[in-house]
Amino acid sequence: MIIDSHCHLDTKVWGDDDGVDAVVQRAYAAGVDRLVAIGSGYGFDSAARALAVARRHTQVIAGIGLHPHDAKEFTEEAWESLLELARDPKVKALGEMGLDYHYSFSVREQQLVAFRTQLRAAKKLGLPVIIHDRESGGETLELLDQERAWEGGVLFHCYTGDRATMQKIVERGGTISIPGIVTFKNADSVREVAREVPIGQLLIETDSPFLAPVPHRGKRNEPAFVPLVGAAVAALRGMPAEELCQITAENTLRFFRWD
Ligand code: NI
Repeated sequence: MIIDSHCHLDTKVWGDDDGVDAVVQRAYAAGVDRLVAIGSGYGFDSAARALAVARRHTQVIAGIGLHPHDAKEFTEEAWESLLELARDPKVKALGEMGLDYHYSFSVREQQLVAFRTQLRAAKKLGLPVIIHDRESGGETLELLDQERAWEGGVLFHCYTGDRATMQKIVERGGTISIPGIVTFKNADSVREVAREVPIGQLLIETDSPFLAPVPHRGKRNEPAFVPLVGAAVAALRGMPAEELCQITAENTLRFFRWD
């Protein structure tokens, strides 16, 4: 079994529903069994678009939320409509959410409010959370500690942080997802992390449409490429790719409480 634990199947990227469905079909053809469609990162309304894909495909679920880049869009009304969608049984997580002080497309205050509100909602809804963390200087972890978010399930997606932070995350019971960056020449620190995450807390993802793994680097990324990520991580850990994919797939099912 192989699962892409994080991909953006948004009509804003793939044109229309047919374009999105073609991406899903190409993933199946490449041996990918299931996908987690992320409805976050393309404005508040990307949540509804991710949920629409999940409703059309039995092997696709959705995680929906407000990306830190879009925190400036956070209004009461938009938030209420997102909460409404979150009650759909195909929504298995809130996110991606978090802090991004690299780009700072939204000011810090807005990012913190959006993040905290979503953490509290996830707790009420009984959903795990998907975290986007970039150059927050430890603030993301601090907030997760303050809000006692860990027991509900916390996934650091597209992990490119350092080893010390990875250790803090896994000590707290968090999960780490490794993206296609692991195949990039200059990504030794990601490879170090990919080798050392406890196997039961490890997932793989594409984060498509960006960051396509080698040999597709620079092209549009899609879930069909997640086996390349699995193979790269397996090679680093000295185990068969099939076994690595199977274990990370089981971890994904457990994390999202997905039958
Ligand atoms: Ni993403």
